[in-house]
Amino acid sequence: MITKKLLILAGDGIGPEIMTQVQRVICWMAKKRNITFDVNEGLIGGASYDKFGHPLTDETLQDAFDADAVLLGSVGGYKWDNLSFDLRPEQGLLRLRKNLELFANLRPAVVFDALVDASSLKTEIVKGLDIMIVRELTGGIYFGKPRGIEILSTGERRGVNTQVYTTGEIIRIADVAFDLAQKRGNKVHSIEKANVMESGVLWREEVQKLHDTKYSAVELYHMYADNCAMQLVRNPKQFDVIVTDNLFGDILSDCAAMLTGSLGMLPSASLGSLNAKGKRHAVYEPVHGSAPDIANKDIANPIATLLSFSMMLRYSFNMSVEADLLEQSIKNILDADLRTSDIMQLGKIKVSTTMMGESLISEMNKLTS
Ligand code: IPM
Ligand code: MG
Repeated sequence: MITKKLLILAGDGIGPEIMTQVQRVICWMAKKRNITFDVNEGLIGGASYDKFGHPLTDETLQDAFDADAVLLGSVGGYKWDNLSFDLRPEQGLLRLRKNLELFANLRPAVVFDALVDASSLKTEIVKGLDIMIVRELTGGIYFGKPRGIEILSTGERRGVNTQVYTTGEIIRIADVAFDLAQKRGNKVHSIEKANVMESGVLWREEVQKLHDTKYSAVELYHMYADNCAMQLVRNPKQFDVIVTDNLFGDILSDCAAMLTGSLGMLPSASLGSLNAKGKRHAVYEPVHGSAPDIANKDIANPIATLLSFSMMLRYSFNMSVEADLLEQSIKNILDADLRTSDIMQLGKIKVSTTMMGESLISEMNKLTS
């Protein structure tokens, strides 16, 4: 029997209802595979603010430290839009990332064959697409100082954020990207704006240096971020692994997500460094947001979160058999034409969030019977 400590932070909006579908899979694993997760649940984002007056309490942060892995839903919503900046739901997420030092954010954009027509791009452009975006997650303009809004002597206001990277931060994220590329298509595109930003110049130089000293067998290309956005919709299959900073990674991964048909399909893993015990902190979450406009309607797509759970099985727990099974089951129910409304198309069968979860369990039963 395997027991892993899992912290679930369902968050806001559609977070709780999609997390319910993951809970089904967790129960299934316990019943059918004898894999018991020791599940602890906590609050984050607006839900935490409403109960405790803060988007991530010290207690919940400690629980995250103690867990083998954290599974997160989504944070944010109109309801909390007018809170002061440091109390906004998003700050809970950023605090979690920063404190657990989850510097490596892996965002795979894979197009399922069943969904090629759901993409806004032509079939031949996206069919078979498999990109891995490696986004730096604990540095850059998200956390750089100085930051803030100040009032000038003229009475004007001035908003400041700072893009800043050290060589160490660049090298450790590039190392993750090269290492992953070796296990995939052996190609890395490093993305910055070295034409206008010094931090981009440094980024480019350090990535090149690491390549030349440690990964010279991996193909490396440098590309400006604006060009990358354009190339992602022009010819996305030219990419294998994309490595980039926090802000460009945020933007480019939403773009890549849409290539797959819906933001509701994209999972992510945020990983820290390996510690002395060979363990690393890890948070798994969908790339999509809390979608407050469709919350509590049982129509949200749970697949991004289910795939995030699958990434957890793979990256944190080395359970590739179970991860394969879960991913195959998702593929099969898509092949059986089941669709939530975000990926609905003519002739397909529209299902609710709940039905998607239930069908997945039936499929897992079928595949293992
Ligand atoms: C993401 C989100 C977050 C980010 C928000 C919710 C803070 O957009 O994970 O991509 O900007 O990193
Ligand atoms: Mg984002």
